[in-house]
Amino acid sequence: MKKIAVLTSGGDAPGMNAAVRAVVRKAIHAGVEVVGVNRGYAGVIEGDFIKLDKNSVSDIIDRGGTFLRSARCDEFRTPEGRAKGAEQLRKEGIEGLIVIGGDGSFTGATLLTNETGIKTVGVPATIDNDIACTDDSIGYDTAMNTIIDAITKIRDTASSHERAFVIEAMGRHAGFLTLAAGLAGGAEAILVPEMKFNIDEVCNNIQAGYEAGKIHAIILVAEGVEIEGQEFTTNRDVNQSNAFIIGKELNERTGFETRVSILGHIQRGGAPTGRDRLLASRLGAAAVDALLAGETNKMVGLVHNRINIAEIKDAIEGNKEFDEELYQLANILSI
Ligand code: F6P
Repeated sequence: MKKIAVLTSGGDAPGMNAAVRAVVRKAIHAGVEVVGVNRGYAGVIEGDFIKLDKNSVSDIIDRGGTFLRSARCDEFRTPEGRAKGAEQLRKEGIEGLIVIGGDGSFTGATLLTNETGIKTVGVPATIDNDIACTDDSIGYDTAMNTIIDAITKIRDTASSHERAFVIEAMGRHAGFLTLAAGLAGGAEAILVPEMKFNIDEVCNNIQAGYEAGKIHAIILVAEGVEIEGQEFTTNRDVNQSNAFIIGKELNERTGFETRVSILGHIQRGGAPTGRDRLLASRLGAAAVDALLAGETNKMVGLVHNRINIAEIKDAIEGNKEFDEELYQLANILSI
């Protein structure tokens, strides 16, 4: 393989830049040319390519977002769009494509491979950490730390006013990010879509905490929790967040002054943590190795701190196991 391309797609995640840097520098080390694709699959269709050399990825290891930009592309969801994309890649002499993103991006990659023969390898990058076949995805650790920081700050004001706060974290349909941040941030209650909860119980526990001397309460809620009769939405333009419903219930049932804080896209930004930079560097380099070894339709991940190469189909279709023990531990420690 003489020339490969790299793109970032879907919701951005801190560490995507570090992953692109690793792809570029590892490929150069192996004597392979690298092309960056602007704006994800939209750029593939339009042939929006830029040549990347070692200097074009200088000073980006510590930057959040993605300098290649990201976009949602309806045309690439069609076989015609993918055929057009494959033609653009071939015209440029590109034999392999590294896709940095989440499961939606991987679906595009596997369809491209199956329909056109372009070789693809995926690198998991999403703050949601909901991708199977890898313990961690790029961006998750940074987002977790952003939430922990928010909890710490909100707890200051919550204590001053003896208030309860319902804080909503991202994660789409998954609660991995909320559980980790809630446990590490010391939240009094953690509500996630994977575990059924009873609002009476939550309120009683908060009340018991106040009676035992607590002067604040933090309830960390995953945006994907389901409440009967409420539709789940990730549309930030529409204020239908379940956190408000939970906040209202808490206030009415306990009488505690309650505030709601939706953390929103703050969770997607910021300089990646050291852990995310390390993960991005390892996975970016591993993706190049995989392509050069002739792999395709694969995702590189990290399992028990070792590089793991999985069928991309398993990463897309597999269900990542929710750690119920960790959830129970969080409940035990939150009293
Ligand atoms: O998948 C990453 C994520 O940030 C989710 O946690 C969230 O539900 C969604 O993307 C928000 O998407 P958008 O950027 O389109 O508002």
